[in-house]
Amino acid sequence: TIEAVIFDLDGVVVYTDEYHSRGWRRLCDDQGWRFPEEVSDQLRGVSRMESLQIILDSNGVSATGEEKEEMAHRKNEYYKTYLQEVDESALVPGAVDCIRELRRRGVLIGLGSASKNALTVLRGLGIEELFDQAVTGLDITRSKPDPQVFTLGGQRLGVSPERCAVFEDAVSGVEAANAAGMISVGFGPTQGLDQAGADLLVPDYAWLDIDAFLAGTLWS
Ligand code: G6P
Ligand code: MG
Repeated sequence: TIEAVIFDLDGVVVYTDEYHSRGWRRLCDDQGWRFPEEVSDQLRGVSRMESLQIILDSNGVSATGEEKEEMAHRKNEYYKTYLQEVDESALVPGAVDCIRELRRRGVLIGLGSASKNALTVLRGLGIEELFDQAVTGLDITRSKPDPQVFTLGGQRLGVSPERCAVFEDAVSGVEAANAAGMISVGFGPTQGLDQAGADLLVPDYAWLDIDAFLAGTLWS
C-alpha cells in the first residue's frame, strides 16, 4: 500500500516548466544561441547550473565559471519576473483535487523539487499547506537522477521508500524515484518516461483512478 506520494513541482503541479523554458530561451536569444525543443525536455528536473551546461554544450560554446554564474543568475531573474504572472490558471488541471483526495484518504503528501524557487511558487499559489513536507533545491546537494531529493522526502515523511510513490514529468526524475526504491509515476506528455522505467504512465489527472492507484493494481 502507498502511504505517501511525493510530487515534483514544475510540470506536475504547476506549469512553471514553461516559464523555466521561457527564461532559458530568452537567455539564448540574448546570447545568439539556439534553444532546440528537445533540449527543453532535457532540462526538466535538472538544476540551474546543469541546465546551463546542457545549453552551452548543445551550442558548442564554453564559458568561464564567472560567466556561467552571471548567465544562470540572469535566467533566474527572468524566471522570477515570469513568476509574478503565475496564478491559479497555471495549476496543472486536477493536481490540487488529486492531492486533496489523497489527503482525505490519509496519504501523506511531499514535494520533491530541484528548484530553489519551489517554496516561492507554492506560497504564491497559496497551496503550501497541502504538503506535509517539502524538499527543494535549497535542501539538496545532488540533482536528479540522484535519489537524494526523494529519499530525504521519504525520511521527513517517516515513510519507507517502498510505500512512497513519486509523480514526475522528467526522465531524470523517474530515474531518481526508481533509484530511491519508490514507485515511479511518469506524468504528462514528456517523451521517454516509459524507457526511463516508469512503473506507471499517467497522461493527466483525469485519467487517474485514485482508489485503483492506492490499491496498487495499476502497475505490475
Ligand atoms: C526544476 C525544473 C528545472 C529547473 C530546476 C531548478 O527541476 O524542472 O527546469 O532548472 O528545477 O530550478 P531553479 O528555480 O532552482 O533554477
Ligand atoms: Mg518537473
